[in-house]
Amino acid sequence: MSVQEEKAAWDSLPLAPGPTTVSGDEDNPLAPIEYICRKYGPMAGFTTRFGYTVMVSGAAEVREVLFNPARFQRFENLRLLIGNGLLQSEGPYWRAQRRRAQPRFHQKTVDTYRDIMAKSARETMKRWENNGYADGKPFELGREMLNLALPASQEALLGARMEHRVEELNDASFDVMYYMAFLGNPLVATVFNADNTRRARAALKVFNDLIMEVIERQRGSKSGNDLMSILFSAKDSITGEPLNNEQIRDEVATVLLGGHETTSVMLMWTWFCISQNPSVEERLHEEWERVLGGREPSLEDVGKLAYTHAVFQESLRLYPPVWGLARRAQQDDVVGGCRIPKETLLITIIIALHRDPDLWDAPLEFRPERFLPENADRIPKDAYIPFGEGPHTCIGKHFATLEAMVTIPMIGQKYRIRSKDADSAIPHPYVTLRVPKGIPVWVERRSG
Ligand code: HEM
Repeated sequence: MSVQEEKAAWDSLPLAPGPTTVSGDEDNPLAPIEYICRKYGPMAGFTTRFGYTVMVSGAAEVREVLFNPARFQRFENLRLLIGNGLLQSEGPYWRAQRRRAQPRFHQKTVDTYRDIMAKSARETMKRWENNGYADGKPFELGREMLNLALPASQEALLGARMEHRVEELNDASFDVMYYMAFLGNPLVATVFNADNTRRARAALKVFNDLIMEVIERQRGSKSGNDLMSILFSAKDSITGEPLNNEQIRDEVATVLLGGHETTSVMLMWTWFCISQNPSVEERLHEEWERVLGGREPSLEDVGKLAYTHAVFQESLRLYPPVWGLARRAQQDDVVGGCRIPKETLLITIIIALHRDPDLWDAPLEFRPERFLPENADRIPKDAYIPFGEGPHTCIGKHFATLEAMVTIPMIGQKYRIRSKDADSAIPHPYVTLRVPKGIPVWVERRSG
């Protein structure tokens, strides 16, 4: 086919069908996204403030986009926060970063972090005992899970803790993530006014200052085998020079956000789901009693907690912390038989795939049984991708899994987490799947 014929064939393809206008729903911004995916199918196209945008929600189409990073590069929405860190970079620079970070995330290395994760859970429960939470004083679940996840990811991955600044860092990263969601998500109504922009900038400054503090502190400390020490001795893949502070900053910010934001959101939704499903909670108690009998899970125990693992997986299905992934078309292209002009923004809607009624039975119900080993062959193909897929697939998957498998049984053997106002826990598609005002909960001691 000649170039002209190819161009004519491409021109004759349809654009993805879609609505002419999209109105946001401030109280439930996920609703229009899910509605459009259901109504218009695997490729739904419309114009947003980012230009022509296609929501991709079919398993095959999502796969095509995520497996082809040269054709569909990552959208630059996180650059403000993590610069050119591993979550944002592409091409040879990304490859070198991934190769450098990879050893820290191999299963065997991650297993060595078990004690650090258990320590974080122990500290969380101690805090609950000391500040009245263990006696029924209500608190916000998301915030407590951030407080649990942050020290673990700092100590395991950066070799340093910033205990004195945990609250400050959590506030700053929450604010930045919140505002970035509006910056980077064409489907969420914009809230950018002068006031909010100032708040976002102030939060970004706190975030950056804290990261520089860790870098300075660690530079002076003895070399270990944590990610930070690896970064200090690494060379830039292109210039051959040692990494400068900015490059190290980008990678540290990536680990902090990648490692603790997503994991804390996962823990928040998992506890929320358990609190809403008494029969699931009962079955978890039965498993913990049988396998652990009150002990903390060892690495060997983790492999025996099949139902706990299924609960973790089902929570990631129903509430995937990374609900969608944005990519930019680098050239005129075709996906799912639709014409994709260069520069099109494609958003793969993971949450729509995970809740597709054509693929899953009762998709809105929390049914961990789906993920028990005996049902493995009934999981629809390519329809479950909480950690993404393709070359950029999550490097921290084992880390997050181990954190859930260690901390959930530890806390759950001691306390029940209770939530009254379940209807207000409406997931919002910010950068991660958050509830803007949080999920108020209280705990009950299980014994003693
Ligand atoms: C439940 C928790 C987690 C979820 C749901 C999650 C989800 C994801 C997803 C969907 C991607 C793909 C991004 C893309 O294709 O653009 C990703 C990539 C990534 N994740 Fe995670 N993640 C989790 C935990 C972690 C942890 C604990 C870390 C680090 C400690 C981490 C670090 C990263 C990094 C560095 C990447 C970029 C990999 C690359 O581009 O090569 N994540 N994650």
